[in-house]
Amino acid sequence: MRVPPKKNLLKLNRIFNDNLNRDEFLRLDKNENLQGFSKEVIEDILNMVTSDFLTAYPDASPLYKKLAQCLDIPKEQIYLSAGSDAGIKAVFEVYVESEDEVVVIHPTYAMYYVYSQMFNARLIEVNFDKNLSLPVERITEKISSTTKLICIANPNSPTGTVFSVKDLEKIIKIASENGVLVLVDEAYYQFWGSSAIDLVSDHDNLIVVRTFSKALGLASARLGYLVSTAETVSHLFRVRPMYEVNSFAISLGLYMLEHPDIAKEYVNKIEQSRKWLKEELSKDGIDIAPGFANFVLINVGDSKRASQITEILLNEKIVIKGGFRETCLKPYTRVGLGTLDQMRYFLKKFREALKEIA
Ligand SMILES: Cc1ncc(COP(=O)(O)O)c(C=O)c1O
Repeated sequence: MRVPPKKNLLKLNRIFNDNLNRDEFLRLDKNENLQGFSKEVIEDILNMVTSDFLTAYPDASPLYKKLAQCLDIPKEQIYLSAGSDAGIKAVFEVYVESEDEVVVIHPTYAMYYVYSQMFNARLIEVNFDKNLSLPVERITEKISSTTKLICIANPNSPTGTVFSVKDLEKIIKIASENGVLVLVDEAYYQFWGSSAIDLVSDHDNLIVVRTFSKALGLASARLGYLVSTAETVSHLFRVRPMYEVNSFAISLGLYMLEHPDIAKEYVNKIEQSRKWLKEELSKDGIDIAPGFANFVLINVGDSKRASQITEILLNEKIVIKGGFRETCLKPYTRVGLGTLDQMRYFLKKFREALKEIA
């Protein structure tokens, strides 16, 4: 007999990840670190692998300890996860019940939509204006007696926009008065330079999510963490898999925390690339939307042109995003920032594409 899954999962469409790999394609669509690591770093990493390393179950305690030291908080306030994605899922597993409302800014990170559906929540989307602004009051006024969680990626993807820490605190305070949790997803915070993490000590309804995938360049390792009160973390531990992260992730994460200059240098390079690309495009009369992550939104006029350019570049083996359905994103293509050389190559092909559709 055919056994159906839970009813709410029947409507949930998941797609396979594509296989446009880096051997052939310049992936400017995934917000990954495109600079890579030096030979010395790779050598250090390879040297970590021993027979015992491979055969023993992971011991995450050194990474909890190191993170606690870096963040200057007790380790009991940290929950490691297999990518920040798994941390976000844990929050839904622990707190979101059927018919609870989950408020998100829209558009935002894809998995909030997926997890809302997976856990049968009612998703409340608060749209960005056409000019990519979103007054915080529009978020707080959506809070109702059934709201359980507000998810804010800050900086947000795919818009690259940010709320100031002051604005976030306003949201967190009003949410707290209404018994609502706020998840601030700081996947890209290093590119912005600010963080809501200090608010955790004063607000017990705040969960800050971070990743090693972006500025720290470890997307393959699937490593992230949550910071909240020790009580919230103890709740999250109830849904923890036997081993929340693997040994590679632990060692790589520790390595990056012990060598903070690697990420610092990468973040500086991204700023150089952003500045260079903005200046070059302004020579062509093309604007970049103000953004604070490792990608930019380039204004090409409208959704049709954005789709055409995206397609032409794909034929040139450069992957970007374009042809968005959301009104605020329609005029844009989203392009990941890489090294200056990668940006030069992209710009050459981008200019050719613009000529082709003129
Ligand atoms: C806003 C945001 N949050 C979370 C993630 C998930 O990152 P990871 O699961 O690699 O930590 C992403 C990935 O692109 C993202 O853009």
